[in-house]
Formats: sequence, structure tokens, C-alpha cells
Amino acid sequence: MEILLKAKNLSKEYVKTTGFFSRTRVSIKALDNMTINIKKGITLAVVGESGSGKSTLAKSLIRLVELDRGTITFKDKNLRKINGEDLKQTRKNIQMVFQDPYASLNPRMKILNIMEEPLKIHDLGSSETQYSKILSMIKKVGLDEQDLSKYPHQFSGGQRQRIGIARALILEPELVICDEPVSALDVSVQAQIIQLLKSLQKEFGLTYLFITHDLRIVRHIANEVIVMKDGKLMEQGKTDIIFRNPKTKYTKELLASIPGNLSKRK
Ligand SMILES: Nc1ncnc2c1ncn2[C@@H]1O[C@H](COP(=O)(O)OP(=O)(O)OP(=O)(O)O)[C@@H](O)[C@H]1O
Ligand SMILES: [Mg+2]
Repeated sequence: MEILLKAKNLSKEYVKTTGFFSRTRVSIKALDNMTINIKKGITLAVVGESGSGKSTLAKSLIRLVELDRGTITFKDKNLRKINGEDLKQTRKNIQMVFQDPYASLNPRMKILNIMEEPLKIHDLGSSETQYSKILSMIKKVGLDEQDLSKYPHQFSGGQRQRIGIARALILEPELVICDEPVSALDVSVQAQIIQLLKSLQKEFGLTYLFITHDLRIVRHIANEVIVMKDGKLMEQGKTDIIFRNPKTKYTKELLASIPGNLSKRK
């Protein structure tokens, strides 16, 4: 199976000042020698408790976080070294869906303009071609043409996340990083968004890096899982194997904390 992204020995340390007089400086290893491979066309879930470094990992892959060490190879290009046209193309090819769709959509922009922006930045097609692309994408995520002239606040949380997904996909990326994309939504809406992500994956042959702390969702969506703790890789493998036979105590504890303990079912 082709590997789309290889990340090797990623390390990132944050220095925080704590204490009343801010005299104490502590360093936190948000990423500690993390190595992951993302195979093309699959969903790789990243799980781990809060603060384990999941978002830092995600952001480092799109260069939103400057790493201390490590190499990232995406389609045979060294992500940390590229610039110019290579960087622009790679930026197009790796998109992110965020947890809070409201915070990530500009409240002053109409949906049409939100969707247009990436196409304009990348100078893709005439305005008619851009419009038809946008229209087709907004329909694919379950909205319609009238919605293009509305503002983010006129939508429900689930609809906003549909817009966030449409915006991420408009540039036809190969890799989509989803950082807790349904955590802010009601459970019934979560299921719809997960279904949508699955069907879009099938249609466009997408690869997902899917960050979540909800192991029930992992079961529904992920082919493979990595488990993180304190910036380190604890365990990795196929979803059903990890669920059936977790190797580390930490993964066992994570699984045991699922309501109804799904790890025992099947
Ligand atoms: N900009 C920052 N400055 C200082 N420390 C940071 C920064 N971003 C993250 N950290 C710290 O790095 C560690 C990893 O954070 P990260 O956000 O990657 O965890 P996470 O697994 O995504 O957590 P959550 O499940 O709560 O989203 C945490 O201890 C966090 O406090
Ligand atoms: Mg996070």
C-alpha cells in the first residue's frame, strides 16, 4: 500500500512559565520522537487523552507548528524544507477540518466568499468555473445554492461543520486532517457528519488523519489507530486488532473508559 505521508521522529517542546510570580519555567514535550506513516486512502485515527499532543501533531503536518526536530515526507517531498511552488501545491493537497466550525469560519463573510477564497488564492479557473465547483461541493455536503448567500451565524453547528468540510475539500486535497471534527456537536448530528465524511472519502478517494478522543467514533471510521500519550506513540495498528487486543495498559484503560465497554463486544 502506498504511503502518502511519513513523519519521522517529530519532536516539539513548549516552554511555559508557571506560578504566581512566573519564575518557574517548565518545558512540555508535546511531541516526543513521534513517528507515523499514513497510507493512501485510509482513515488513520489518533487517540489519546487531553494534552497528549494530538493537535500539535496535526498542526505540525501543515506547518502551523514549527517542529524542533523530525522529518515529514509527503509524496516524496520533504515538507519541512519545501518552499515556493512546491509548498503551494502541498498546502493545497493537505487540508484541515477543525473542531469548532464557527471559530474557523469568518463571521463577516458569506458562504460563497468563504468557499471562493482558497480557489482565488490558488488562482484556479475563471469565476464561472469557480462558482460551479463551489455549487457542486456545497450540494455534496448537503446544503444548497441559497445557502451560499448566507453568513455562518445563520446555520446550525452541524451545517457549519458541513461548510467547513466543503471548504477543506474545494481544493481537491488528498489528505484531510480532521481535528475533533464532531466533538462540539450533538450526538445525533455527530453521526450524520461522520457518515458524510465517509461518503466523501469514498467519492474522492480521500485519506483522513482523524483526531478524536471518542473511541466509539474510531470504530466507525478508522482502518488504523495510533494511540498517543505525553507526545509519544504508545501503540499503533489496525482498528479491530487494537480494540480486541490492546497491548499497553494505557490503551486498555482508554478502552475500558468507553461507556458500555465496546471493546468487549463484537
Ligand atoms: N502554543 C502552546 N504553548 C504552550 N504549550 C502548548 C501550546 N500548544 C500546546 N501546548 C501544550 O502541549 C501539550 C500538547 O497539546 P495538544 O494541544 O497537542 O494536545 P491534544 O492531545 O490535542 O489535547 P486535547 O485533546 O485537549 O485537544 C499540552 O500539554 C499543551 O498544554
Ligand atoms: Mg487537540
